[in-house]
Amino acid sequence: MQVIRSLRELRATLDARSAAAFVPTMGNLHEGHLSLVHEAVQRRAAPDSPVVASIFVNRLQFLPHEDFDRYPRTLARDVELLASAGCDLVFAPDERELYPEPQVYKVQPPAALADILEGEFRPGFFTGVCTVVLKLFHCVQPAVAVFGKKDYQQLQVIEAMTRQFALPIQIVGHDTVRAGDGLALSSRNGYLSAEERSEAVALQQVLHRLADAARDPGRSLAQREAQAAADLRQRGWAPDYLTLRRRSDLLAPTDNERCGSAPLVVLGAARLGSTRLIDNLEL
Ligand code: PAF
Repeated sequence: MQVIRSLRELRATLDARSAAAFVPTMGNLHEGHLSLVHEAVQRRAAPDSPVVASIFVNRLQFLPHEDFDRYPRTLARDVELLASAGCDLVFAPDERELYPEPQVYKVQPPAALADILEGEFRPGFFTGVCTVVLKLFHCVQPAVAVFGKKDYQQLQVIEAMTRQFALPIQIVGHDTVRAGDGLALSSRNGYLSAEERSEAVALQQVLHRLADAARDPGRSLAQREAQAAADLRQRGWAPDYLTLRRRSDLLAPTDNERCGSAPLVVLGAARLGSTRLIDNLEL
C-alpha cells in the first residue's frame, strides 16, 4: 500500500489508473472505518481499480471551542489498519498541502438541510464538510465514495451536493458498526472514561425506545421526544436533540407519515461529560 502526502504525487499516481473507490476519513481509525474500506473493495468498478482512503483532520468543520487540537492523529497505526483492510493508497496531506492558501471559496449547503440537527448545534459544520469533501473528490476523482450512516445527516448533505454539482460519483452509505453492547463506533468514544464508556450505550437505548413508540398515535411526538431527552438528562447527559424525522429530508413527519409506513429515522446527539456522541436508527 502506498502512502502519499502531496497532491502532485497523488495525481501522477492515480492518472495511470482509474475509477477509484474512495473512503474519506479524519484518521484515528476503528472497525467502523475499516468496514467502509471493505465496502469500497466490494464496490470498486474493476478488480484493479484502486481503493483510496484519505486521512485529514479538517479544521474547517470544527468550531473554535471544539476538539480540533486534541483530535487524535495516529497516522502510523491508521496506515497499518488500512493496508490490512485492503486499501491500495492512502492520501494523507498536511494542512499546507490541502489548504495552501486560506480556503475562502466554500460550499454552502442549503439551510433547510444543513442548519438543522447537527447544523443547529455546530454552525458551519456542513460548510466545512462539503468544502473538504468536494476538494478531496477533485483530488482523488473517484467513481465511488463510501460514507458511514452513523453521520446520517452528513451522508444526506454529501449525496445532495454530489447530485447538485452533477459529480460523476456514486455515493454509498454504509451501516453503522456497533460495539457488543450496541454503542456506535466513533473516534470520539476514545475520549470517554471507563465509567462514561459503560453509560454511553444509553444513547442508543433511548433512541430504540423512541423508535419503538414512534408509530403509536397514542401520545404526541413532541411528548415522546421530550421524554427521551428527560430520560438522558436524568442519567447525567446533556442532550442536544433526540428526534424522529423523515429519512428523505430530515424534516418532522406528518402524523399520517408517522403512523403509516413512511421511511423514518430517529436521530440523537448528546454530551456525556465533555464528549459529544451522535447516533441514529432507521425505522
Ligand atoms: O466523517 C468524517 O470523518 C469527516 O466529516 C469527513 C467526511 C472525512 C470530512 O472531513
